[in-house]
Amino acid sequence: MTKGWNKSDWRSRPRVQMPDYPDQAALAAVEAQIARMPPLVFAGETRKLKRALGDVAAGRAFLLQGGDCAESFAEFSADNIRDTFKVILQMAIVLTWGAKVPVVKIGRVAGQFAKPRSAPTEVVGGVELPSYRGDIINGFDFTEGARVPDPARMLQAYTQAAASLNLLRAFSTGGFADMHRVQSWISGFTDEDEATRYREVATRIQDAMEFMAAAGVTSDTVHAMQTVDFYTSHEALLLEYEEALCRIDSTSGLPVAGSGHMIWIGDRTRQPDGAHVEFCRGVQNPIGLKCGPSLSTDDLKVLMRKLNPENEAGRLTLIARFGAGKVGDHLPRLVRAVEEEGANVVWTCDPMHGNTIKSASGYKTRPFDSVLREVREFFAVHKAEGTIPGGVHFEMTGKDVTECTGGVRAVTDEDLSDRYHTACDPRLNASQSLELAFLVAEELQDRRAMQKAAGM
Ligand code: PEP
Ligand code: CO
Repeated sequence: MTKGWNKSDWRSRPRVQMPDYPDQAALAAVEAQIARMPPLVFAGETRKLKRALGDVAAGRAFLLQGGDCAESFAEFSADNIRDTFKVILQMAIVLTWGAKVPVVKIGRVAGQFAKPRSAPTEVVGGVELPSYRGDIINGFDFTEGARVPDPARMLQAYTQAAASLNLLRAFSTGGFADMHRVQSWISGFTDEDEATRYREVATRIQDAMEFMAAAGVTSDTVHAMQTVDFYTSHEALLLEYEEALCRIDSTSGLPVAGSGHMIWIGDRTRQPDGAHVEFCRGVQNPIGLKCGPSLSTDDLKVLMRKLNPENEAGRLTLIARFGAGKVGDHLPRLVRAVEEEGANVVWTCDPMHGNTIKSASGYKTRPFDSVLREVREFFAVHKAEGTIPGGVHFEMTGKDVTECTGGVRAVTDEDLSDRYHTACDPRLNASQSLELAFLVAEELQDRRAMQKAAGM
């Protein structure tokens, strides 16, 4: 795959959505410094994730990917990491119950710092400044100084990513992720008045755990109930950072992105001959590709051949993000292109990025109902096409923010100003995330029924 590929080849390709650093010497110094640092992930872990995603592609597992739209330096804290991790674990149990297969858990975390923007500049009160591009590139404050791209921010991002991963690894294996604890958090949610609708499922999960305990299957006897595999991912947008963390895997002798387990290519940077595709095609990690309404069937075919020439299971995840009401216009043609090529892919649904609207109060928001509707349309298309709906991809947080509207503990337009903390796009809060998992679990029961009928 990587024959004739070099980690800096992307530099000769057209690049979009990347900063022009005014101080090239400072940039080169930072790149050299990061190139000497340890990678954040180990190549063997990326291989393990690829195998797990191969199971997702075959319908033997389900993918849950979620986290912040943009991690920020200001919101970095152990509590924030813990709370998001905690909700992802709860969602995963509910989804496991629905799908009756393991759930592969990937965070948008420990590297999700760089943002593509729809406009290069932003105007506030008649003043025009370069857009904010994520904390790894420039500052959020609306001042001329803050908006200058500063390479030193890459070092801070690396440090934050390393500390985040360290905590996540501790949580994953140190007892925090014990299935019994997670199940008790879920019961806490469904005991609340608004969430009674989901109580029956929570009770059935609890019954299943009690049955297993009676049969001797507990976290004391079965190691798998105490620990989880948790992977990291981010958009590979800032290629100077990605290149500096690219390493040769000593086992295979092949290049691997050391910045996270999975990296993805955004909807704005997926030009087949562009810099981002060029970098990502050469590393061994699982790769995601955002598929929005403007992706042509021909481009998808070219991209699949470039990104997964050996048609390796688990290598390529297609992240569909069309918007509620538009899935039927685009997903069937892309699903058919995949089938025509005989390509082995994971199909997952990002119901966030096609459903962003401006509320009456001026805040960017996403209505819970549109998010849910897109997920249901995604499942319906796969059912009609006879293909596998492999997973879901959410922008979410474990905090009780008010950024998306709706849900059982309804957030209204007027509430948005209360706790609107995102550095970029609006995220589902903890309650909305868990509620969505219950609703996706209903769709998964249907998937399970179809698999059973097919003798799987
Ligand atoms: C994102 O995932 O935050 C994002 C920018 O997505 P997309 O490339 O699909 O717009
Ligand atoms: Co986003």
